[in-house]
Amino acid sequence: MNFPDYRPRRLRKNENLRRMIRETKLSVDNLIYPLFAVPGTKVKKPIDSMPGIFQMSVDHLVREIQRVKELGIPAVLLFGIPDKKDEIASGAMAKDGIIQQAIRGSKGKVPDILVITDVCLCEYTSHGHCGMLEKEDVANDATIEVLAETAVSHAKAGADMVAPSAMMDGQIAALREGLDDAGFDNLPIMAYSAKYASCFYGPFREAAESAPAFGDRRAYQMDPANSDEAMREITLDVSEGADIIMVKPALAYLDVIRRAKEEFDLPLAAYNVSGEFSMIKAAAQMGWIDGERAMMESLTAIRRAGADMIITYFAPDVAKILEA
Ligand code: PBG
Repeated sequence: MNFPDYRPRRLRKNENLRRMIRETKLSVDNLIYPLFAVPGTKVKKPIDSMPGIFQMSVDHLVREIQRVKELGIPAVLLFGIPDKKDEIASGAMAKDGIIQQAIRGSKGKVPDILVITDVCLCEYTSHGHCGMLEKEDVANDATIEVLAETAVSHAKAGADMVAPSAMMDGQIAALREGLDDAGFDNLPIMAYSAKYASCFYGPFREAAESAPAFGDRRAYQMDPANSDEAMREITLDVSEGADIIMVKPALAYLDVIRRAKEEFDLPLAAYNVSGEFSMIKAAAQMGWIDGERAMMESLTAIRRAGADMIITYFAPDVAKILEA
């Protein structure tokens, strides 16, 4: 295939030709929309660093989930921000905790959309770390017990899937065992398998009020420099019973997504995180970039790298474009 016999431009001449040879297509089927639930009623508080994203009380949240369902989005990912935080994250697994109320509200009013819940403790601990502290370190094995209990409480409230994101060793096995023992052997686990200690979570920590009070998460989340280690993390999660594996963040880790797609044959999710969203929004607000095209290009790239599904704050915006 050498020039001048092969001229790639021949197939780029017009949109019909380009459509015909397009390799990657974004579909609303692949989108998961994250939402933040807070206590109270009639609360809809904008998150400054994430334009268009809000903390919502359950009444507003349920309306937003209805809207998202009408746009054809198959799933939401719920986060809860409790009124009170303590050392041991007791709000995380409380029967009437904020996330449990949000799940019940959603399933009660909009039964036909998948409710996935983030299973982590950082939103619920006074110190903002993702688990139980022992001195200044997160105690792994004590934490996975609490995570399992938390996941079971989500399942009891009606969650369709749980997504553990604390990056504790053995967390998938602990959740699987806890769920099975409680009779939820059919409830799938979406594992945040390769989750990096990333600065791109910055805006999320405003949204979820979950910035660590001291230190950072590098003693449990992965070093951004590593890719072989990501494969080991995924191997562990698969052996412990993960149903869906995840790479997070997405855009700076497209190589990891591609490797995971090639080396594992489980459905693969990628989390297009808060910072990735906010950077595009900010540049667009400045008039420095076409925000809509940057969104479509980024999400297409994540799919092209190999992600089967994308968790993204852009989900409703994309759905509207795909619908048009
Ligand atoms: C909880 C969690 C975080 C995100 C998802 N689940 C924050 C963190 O680990 O610090 C980040 C999501 C985003 O940035 O959009 N541990």
